[in-house]
Amino acid sequence: MAQRRNGIRNRRQADRWKRKFERHRELERQLREAAPDILHSDNFILTKGHIQHGDMTVNQHCINVAKLSVAISDKLHIKCKKRELIRGALLHDYFLYDWHVGDARKPTNLHGFYHPGIALRNASKEYDLTPRERDIIEKHMWPLTLTKIPRCREAWIVTTADKWCSFLETIHYLHGHGKVETKGTRGN
Ligand SMILES: [Fe+2]
Ligand SMILES: [Fe+2]
Repeated sequence: MAQRRNGIRNRRQADRWKRKFERHRELERQLREAAPDILHSDNFILTKGHIQHGDMTVNQHCINVAKLSVAISDKLHIKCKKRELIRGALLHDYFLYDWHVGDARKPTNLHGFYHPGIALRNASKEYDLTPRERDIIEKHMWPLTLTKIPRCREAWIVTTADKWCSFLETIHYLHGHGKVETKGTRGN
């Protein structure tokens, strides 16, 4: 009897893992479809060399935020422009430097305030951003950047996903693999 119960429990657990894995693969497919140019660009790959929180790189953090943004819009049935949601989320931290190493021009304690503007400037140089994508990047640190209030639902979703991912990464619930040395270009 106990053996049968264990068997049922294991099967349920296996089904849960399978569903989770398939969902994860589907989110990755959507990201690849919406932003192949961003994902394969030198500068986006360069972000693998910078840590965001804990042992999570900026690259993986942005991918996490994009996946969670899609998951939130699907789960809550929030109608939105998915392509712009994904692209804005992938570029929301496109500041292209290691924010833990500050200097007079970029003191680390002010990074939270100024990096959305730098990310927007860098992303604008390389991509034709839509107004929604610009809104996502520029406003994602609200309410820290008090006057930069999100104006579209995509920006609201990304700012929420960003905070949740940042929290989980900071407490090491979401694990990264640490930074990877990369060769690339940068824009700031
Ligand atoms: Fe950010
Ligand atoms: Fe972020």
